[in-house]
Amino acid sequence: MLDNRTIEIVKSTVPALREHGVEITKTFYKNMFEQNPEVAPMFNMDRQKSGEQPKALAMTVLAAAENIDKLENLSTTVQKIGVRHCDTGVKEEHYPIVGKHLLGAIKEVLKDSATDEVIEAWGKAYEVIAKVFINTEKEIYASRG
Ligand code: HEM
Repeated sequence: MLDNRTIEIVKSTVPALREHGVEITKTFYKNMFEQNPEVAPMFNMDRQKSGEQPKALAMTVLAAAENIDKLENLSTTVQKIGVRHCDTGVKEEHYPIVGKHLLGAIKEVLKDSATDEVIEAWGKAYEVIAKVFINTEKEIYASRG
């Protein structure tokens, strides 16, 4: 589990991240598709253009961060997203790619206000959030045989 200081830092940065949410999510997808083009075919590019998907992924990470000390509140959402992930072939090894570009986008957009301490706290939080998704998706894949 995360230490209290990390939880405090992550929660305190969520409002600023939300305020810049669209810019962060656009930066995130642009960098991810440029630097990890292997994941691009998994995504529906019509939903990218409409802006629907960019909002959905990163905004859910922010919602999870807000609930970082009570992630069980999000279990219905995680289950629903997990089904979608399994339908599109998301695997455990994809999570560090998303994590890297999400943290990178936070830094790129928030610049100096995303201090090393903030980025470190976010890295830890993302790992916890990713683990919840990975475990849920393992169960879904197993149930599908
Ligand atoms: C903790 C990290 C993640 C969160 C919070 C998250 C969140 C979401 C959300 C909210 C959706 C939309 C679900 C819906 O519309 O029903 C989604 C869809 C999707 N996610 Fe994730 N996701 C995460 C990690 C990943 C990873 C690691 C990948 C793999 C590269 C991935 C690939 C996808 C794909 C391919 C879709 C379907 C998108 C489409 O239809 O274009 N996600 N995710």
